[in-house]
Amino acid sequence: VESSLVDRFGRRVEYVRLSVTDRCDFRCVYCMAEEMQFLPRSEVLSLEEIYNVAKAFVELGVNKIRLTGGEPLVRKGILTLVEQLGQLPAELLITTNGSQLPRMAAELKRLGVDRLNISLDSLQEDKFKRLTRTGRLSQVLEGIDAAIAAGFKGIKLNAVVLKGRNDTEVLDLIAFAREKEVDITFIEEMPLGVITEHDRAEVYCSSDELKEQINPVYPLLDSDAKTGGPSRYYRMTDSRSRVGFISPHSHNFCSECNRVRMTVEGRLLLCLGNEHSMDLRQILRDFPGDSEVLKRHLISAMDLKPEEHHFDLSDEAPQLVRFMNMTGG
Ligand code: GTP
Ligand code: 5AD
Ligand code: SF4
Repeated sequence: VESSLVDRFGRRVEYVRLSVTDRCDFRCVYCMAEEMQFLPRSEVLSLEEIYNVAKAFVELGVNKIRLTGGEPLVRKGILTLVEQLGQLPAELLITTNGSQLPRMAAELKRLGVDRLNISLDSLQEDKFKRLTRTGRLSQVLEGIDAAIAAGFKGIKLNAVVLKGRNDTEVLDLIAFAREKEVDITFIEEMPLGVITEHDRAEVYCSSDELKEQINPVYPLLDSDAKTGGPSRYYRMTDSRSRVGFISPHSHNFCSECNRVRMTVEGRLLLCLGNEHSMDLRQILRDFPGDSEVLKRHLISAMDLKPEEHHFDLSDEAPQLVRFMNMTGG
């Protein structure tokens, strides 16, 4: 079925990203402040409320559900939700930091998760620590192996690249992805939340700079397929792995946007880079269990979707106050 969710610019929304928790065991410098106040339980949607939103979206024609966070796999009861979502007629995907995969990968596969995106910014312990603060590299590497062993196909690694932090590791990360036969995407940092660790304009590293670094070693062959996402993928010779670039600053992809996202408090965000939103929590709590009311609201929310994001890296620019962990990327 074609999705019946269409915005004012004719873009069809077929993909929903659901943040299931603002909590995380890591504190990545581009995502969170070192000390975070997490939301009280009452403000966070229950697993049942999240499921009801997902189901309504699927009934409206959404064919792709991605769970995000924070770290989705630290949400209590997450496997129950995964099991229920696994039975909906839509692809089920998870974006994770990998830390819980050693104990959960096999179960996720069994419950119907189709694909995993795993964050990996560095292969060097000291750099990994500096970027994730509380993350443990060995755990993530074990997590990646556990996901492969569980039989996941189409695993994608994500690296946010910051100049002076991990920009010299790009070739090593590609070599690692090739060895594991997984895809890898390099991401330009997006300015969400007020962070203190670095100056965003100073550490900005464009995808084009990375391509110059990569091409002499691993020639990037243009890929023909549109991927239905912000990532532009390239194939390489002698490898099944692909290299992708998400370039919110240097290559705007908004005209092809097919997605909306819901924050952990049930705010439907029509665009990652804007505040246009609808409070679904209010609707869920005023009309509990009423899927028709919910669906009418989802349809009308499409009118709120803005044409594009305008990220600005300069310090004077108005920053989006919400951090990435509220939004799930
Ligand atoms: P697919 O679902 O396969 O397209 O994966 P993805 O790369 O979109 O998702 P993932 O969760 O791995 O996110 C990787 C990066 O892409 C994160 O930094 C997200 O914030 C970013 N991203 C995903 N969707 C959007 C979007 O619509 N706009 C912007 N600006 N960034 C996005
Ligand atoms: N800019 C770009 N990507 C980010 N991520 C988290 N915060 C940011 C940011 N400020 C990425 C993580 C993960 C995905 C969910 O989003 O690295 O791969
Ligand atoms: Fe946690 Fe992911 Fe944010 Fe890092 S980027 S702090 S792993 S939610």
